[in-house]
Amino acid sequence: MSVKIHTIALLLLSVYLCCQLSAARRASRRRPCCVQVTSRNMSAEVVGETYREQAAGSPCVKAIIFHTNDGPLCADPIAQWVMDLAANMTKLILFIWM
Ligand SMILES: *[C@@H]1O[C@H](CO)[C@@H](O)[C@H](O)[C@H]1NC(C)=O
Ligand SMILES: *[C@@H]1O[C@H](CO)[C@@H](O)[C@H](O)[C@H]1NC(C)=O
Repeated sequence: MSVKIHTIALLLLSVYLCCQLSAARRASRRRPCCVQVTSRNMSAEVVGETYREQAAGSPCVKAIIFHTNDGPLCADPIAQWVMDLAANMTKLILFIWM
C-alpha cells in the first residue's frame, strides 16, 4: 500500500514541478521588455552594480537595462553614457526574447 502512496505522491510532485516550471517560463516570456530606449544621460538615476542586456526581437529592441529607484531603465546600448556606466558594472545573464 505504502508503495502505491509513494508513487502517487511522486506523480503529484512531478506534475506540480512541471506546472511550476512551465508557469515560470510563461511568466518570463510575458515579462515586459524594452520597446524603446533612452539615449538621454540618466547616469545620475542609475543604482546598483549590475545591468542586463536585452537582445532585439520584435517588439523588443536591443537595450541595456539599468536599475533605478523607479524600476528598470531601458537605455540605448550605443549611447556614450551607457557604455561608460556599463564598463564599470557587472553584466547579468543575457536574455533573448522569443
Ligand atoms: C552623464 O552625466 C554624468 C553626471 O550625471 C556625467 O558624469 C557624465 O560625464 C555624463 N556622460 C556623458 C556621456 O555625457
Ligand atoms: C569606472 O571606474 C573607474 C576606475 O575605478 C573610474 O575611474 C571611472 O570614473 C568609473 N566610471 C564611471 C562611469 O563610473
